[in-house]
Amino acid sequence: MLKVSAPGKCILLGEHAVVYGHPALAVSIDMRLNVNISKQKVKSEFHVVNGELMKSKNHPHIINALDDIWSNEDQMLNINVSSEIPPSAGLGSSAALSVAIATGLIKAKNMNKSLEDISSIAHKFEANAQGGLASPMDTSTSAHGGCILLANKKLGENWLYSRTLGEKKWEIHSFELHDEIKNASIVIGHTGIHGSTAEMVLGVKKRLEENPNLINDIEAINALTKRGVIAIENGDLEALGAVMNLNHSHLQNLGVSCKELDDLVAVARETSLGAKLTGAGGGGCMIALSINPTETARDIELAGGRSYICKFGVEGVKIDENSMIF
Ligand code: MEV
Repeated sequence: MLKVSAPGKCILLGEHAVVYGHPALAVSIDMRLNVNISKQKVKSEFHVVNGELMKSKNHPHIINALDDIWSNEDQMLNINVSSEIPPSAGLGSSAALSVAIATGLIKAKNMNKSLEDISSIAHKFEANAQGGLASPMDTSTSAHGGCILLANKKLGENWLYSRTLGEKKWEIHSFELHDEIKNASIVIGHTGIHGSTAEMVLGVKKRLEENPNLINDIEAINALTKRGVIAIENGDLEALGAVMNLNHSHLQNLGVSCKELDDLVAVARETSLGAKLTGAGGGGCMIALSINPTETARDIELAGGRSYICKFGVEGVKIDENSMIF
């Protein structure tokens, strides 16, 4: 059996604007999704996912991966997926699934592919699932781990590769976090409401068409993310927190926040340096940058959210060494 795991992520700055080619910054988090793949022992015509015959409606990312990577194989598979990453919460669970399943199937076929190839293949699955509109932010962060910066130009030695989708182009960088930044904690607050990334991304597109002035909010997020990157390079936690607060206001203007997110952001700000929604919004999670993580987490819980003090910048996708024989 092959065992693969990939981490979730949280976006510190730049979600939604990144879909339009602007920069964004994300870190991997210590919540992982696990995929186990084994050969079915008896002859069969169907793959089995978590003990049930695979249905396209329930497993679009897995179907995409099998069609793309496994299509010319007769061998049917048992695929088991388990995850610590809450689904539809803005924490990258579908990207982690795309990255982990792509990595597992590539390994099972003994194909020689780099992490760049894997993140590219997984990005294609995400774009399919999001109606053609997806940045490579989530899949790159899950594949490489650490801290990933998407920018619109190459930034020196941190550059990994370029990625295009239609007319959009992103330069992907792996970013080293300043020690000062590592001294702070990221506290995640989950509203308990499920948000669909595809719906939120398409909602922003529609609102931009109806109200072209909203492009100012996309531009403002672009400028804030650049300021946030400088704050991170300088280890300036206060500046980073302030930029996160402003980023949240522009996400509100884009219509991707909700009362539950705003309430958790407001309470978390009382004990933290800054707080904002993270990911697609419409429910899901917010994050706070805090040097008092226990208090911030407590206040999030008292306000009705589920809190999680996360370790960030963890390892990207990995194959369990003891499971290499397929
Ligand atoms: C979702 O985690 C982040 C969005 O910016 C969508 C994307 O980047 O594809 C909302």
